[in-house]
Amino acid sequence: MIDILLLDQNNTKALAVVHSCCFEVGWDEKTFDGLFQGFGTFGWGAYQEGQLLGFMLARIVFDEAEILTFCVLPKMRQQGIGAILVQTLQEHAKNVGVKSIFLEVSVNNETALQLYQRLGFSEIATRPNYYRSLINSKTDAKVLRFIC
Ligand SMILES: CC(C)(COP(=O)(O)OP(=O)(O)OC[C@H]1O[C@@H](n2cnc3c(N)ncnc32)[C@H](O)[C@@H]1OP(=O)(O)O)[C@@H](O)C(=O)NCCC(=O)NCCS
Repeated sequence: MIDILLLDQNNTKALAVVHSCCFEVGWDEKTFDGLFQGFGTFGWGAYQEGQLLGFMLARIVFDEAEILTFCVLPKMRQQGIGAILVQTLQEHAKNVGVKSIFLEVSVNNETALQLYQRLGFSEIATRPNYYRSLINSKTDAKVLRFIC
């Protein structure tokens, strides 16, 4: 069974571990600490028997939310955990009066693009050369929006 639990500053160590398993450039504990200290940051973790499997961090400012980061451990993907995390944000956003949720995603990230599109996000813009990889190649990002 998967439990979806609210995250806070006490979870930063586990967030850094999971994030580094999911992205080429992982964020460290300090980065997550800084995010929780900033205005409007919140998020949820997907847990199984106390183990963090994935999480979603977002920021709400007035009536807009932005997904800051979102990932699921490679071995736990394709089971619907990602969708549950996005839907948790969508429900929360509606309940607190958010009108739109925004995010950036690499044009090459087909899995994430499909997932977001399936959950009602639409493309509204492209940011050229938004991501820079470790080997310094650049990739465009799509900006997606979900209207709550
Ligand atoms: C993007 C990401 C979070 C998705 O997580 P996930 O848990 O695999 O997401 P889901 O399982 O909900 O959905 C993924 C696919 O699995 C499919 N799926 C869901 N449940 C399934 C099941 N029980 N059996 C088989 N397939 C299933 C879904 O149909 C979905 O495919 P679709 O979007 O083409 O329809 C994950 O791939 C990841 O961490 N990627 C690296 C980090 C990243 O790119 N983050 C997003 C940055 S914007």
